[in-house]
Amino acid sequence: MCMVIFAPVLATFAFATCGGYSGQLRVRVDCADKSQTNITISFGYPFRFEQVHFKVPLCELKRQETVFLEGDFSTPAQFFVTIAVFAFLYSLLATVVYIFYQNKYRENNRGPLLDFLVTVIFSFLWLVSSCAWAKALSGVKETVDSAQVLFLMSACREPINDCEALEKPVWTRLNTSLVFGFLNVSLWAGNIWFAYKETGLHKTSQRSTRTLSEKQSSFSQRQYSQSSFDQSAASLGQQLYRQVSFDHSGGGITLPHSSLGQPSLFNSSSRGPLILINDM
Ligand SMILES: *[C@@H]1O[C@H](CO)[C@@H](O)[C@H](O)[C@H]1NC(C)=O
Repeated sequence: MCMVIFAPVLATFAFATCGGYSGQLRVRVDCADKSQTNITISFGYPFRFEQVHFKVPLCELKRQETVFLEGDFSTPAQFFVTIAVFAFLYSLLATVVYIFYQNKYRENNRGPLLDFLVTVIFSFLWLVSSCAWAKALSGVKETVDSAQVLFLMSACREPINDCEALEKPVWTRLNTSLVFGFLNVSLWAGNIWFAYKETGLHKTSQRSTRTLSEKQSSFSQRQYSQSSFDQSAASLGQQLYRQVSFDHSGGGITLPHSSLGQPSLFNSSSRGPLILINDM
C-alpha cells in the first residue's frame, strides 16, 4: 500500500530533477590589451556536450574562435529519465487498478503475478539506470569543470591573459536526482517481497505446512481425549449396564447429550454383551 502512494511521487522527483536540469558556467576573459569579455556557457539535459558551443576572444586583433565542449552523456541521462517516466506511468496505473479494480486485479491471480514480474524488472532497470546515471554525472561534472573549460580556450592557455570562472554550475538538482534514483531502487526492490506475497505463492506453501501441523496436533489431542474418555467411559458403562439390565425389551439406547462426544450403547437381543462405541 505504501508503494501505491510513494512510487509515483518518487519517480516524478527522479525524472523532474534530471530531465528539467539546466546549468551555466560564466567565465571572464581578461586579455593583455585590457579588453574584457564575459562568456556564459549554458548546458542542460540531455548533456550532449558536442552541441554546446560558445565564442571566445583570441585576444589578438579582435578575432574570435568557436569552442565546443566534449563528451556525450545523453544515453545514460535519457535512459534514466525514460525508466523514471515509465515507472511513474506504471505505478500510477497500478494505483488506479489497485484502488478501483481490486476484484479484477485478483481474478485468476494474473494481476498480482504480472505486478510481481514488472516490479522485479523495474527494480533491475532502476538499479542499472541509476548506476549508469551516477557514472555519467561524474563525467558531466568533469566536462564542465571550470579548469577544464578554460583549458579549451586558446587565449586562456597564454599566461599573459587572465581567465577566471565567475559562476560555477550548481549541481544540487542533479545530485538530488541521483539520490532519488537510488531511493527508487530501494523502494522497488523492497516492494518485490510485498508483490510476491500478493501473488499468493507464499501463502499456499505456508498453508500446506500449517494444515499438516494442525492435523498432527489435533490428532494427538484426540488421542488424549480418548484416553481420558476411556476412564470415564468405564464408570459410565457400569451405570448404563445397570439401567439397561432392567430393560429386557432390547433395542438400542443412545445417549444424545454427552459432553464427551456421543457414546452409543447397543444392547443386542435380550442378554447380549454391552458394546460401547465412541464415535468422535
Ligand atoms: C563581467 O562580469 C563582472 C562580474 O559579474 C562585471 O564586473 C563586469 O563588468 C562584466 N564585464 C562585462 C564586459 O560585461
